[in-house]
Amino acid sequence: MKIFIDSANIDEIKEANALGIIDGVTTNPSLIAKEKRAALAVLKEICSLVHGPVSAEAINLDASGMIEEARQLSKIAPNIVVKIPLIQEGIKAVRVLSGEGIKTNVTLCFSLPQALIVAKAQAEYVSPFVGRLDDVSHNGMDLIRDIKQVYSNYHFKTQVIVASVRNPLHVVEAAKIGADIATIPFSVIEQLLKHPLTDIGVERFIQDYKKIPKA
Ligand code: G3P
Repeated sequence: MKIFIDSANIDEIKEANALGIIDGVTTNPSLIAKEKRAALAVLKEICSLVHGPVSAEAINLDASGMIEEARQLSKIAPNIVVKIPLIQEGIKAVRVLSGEGIKTNVTLCFSLPQALIVAKAQAEYVSPFVGRLDDVSHNGMDLIRDIKQVYSNYHFKTQVIVASVRNPLHVVEAAKIGADIATIPFSVIEQLLKHPLTDIGVERFIQDYKKIPKA
């Protein structure tokens, strides 16, 4: 499973990149707004740090506006993927953009029929939001299971990005299901590698090392 970082924060992206486990980045307008810098500058900097796909979201809501915005965004760097909202106009835009070779990540997916439409439109990625489904008492990971099954039934090429990840269990479940990608906030990446017994073990070894006679 590929791991993307879901962040527009340069320090977080650098730190995650230093771990050597990051295959790409996803951003959205809410994440970029937190940085209090121009979106273009943030995206350019992210693309200079990460070689894998970097998702940047289109904010136009009509197909022609989205297509034009996607063309502009894709000029930032060759690894830009344009995030398109899963609405009727968005699907029209995806069809045109996939024909032009511009990769799309269709975002805000909350149901299996939506995911089926995204695959038919030949998007590169679909992003089901598991955390936000959990928030409204629907099991987000069940949706990932269903999408993977339907995509595999028909050999659809669209890759599933498990998004709106809130905790390590979402990541573990995604890996068990065989999701293509999980996009993970930095705080959850930190949680993934932590275990209290590791910390206790490290501390004990350090203390015991001090008891070893020096020559
Ligand atoms: O990947 C989508 C993500 O940024 C949304 O996460 O926690 O706002 O639902 P959240």
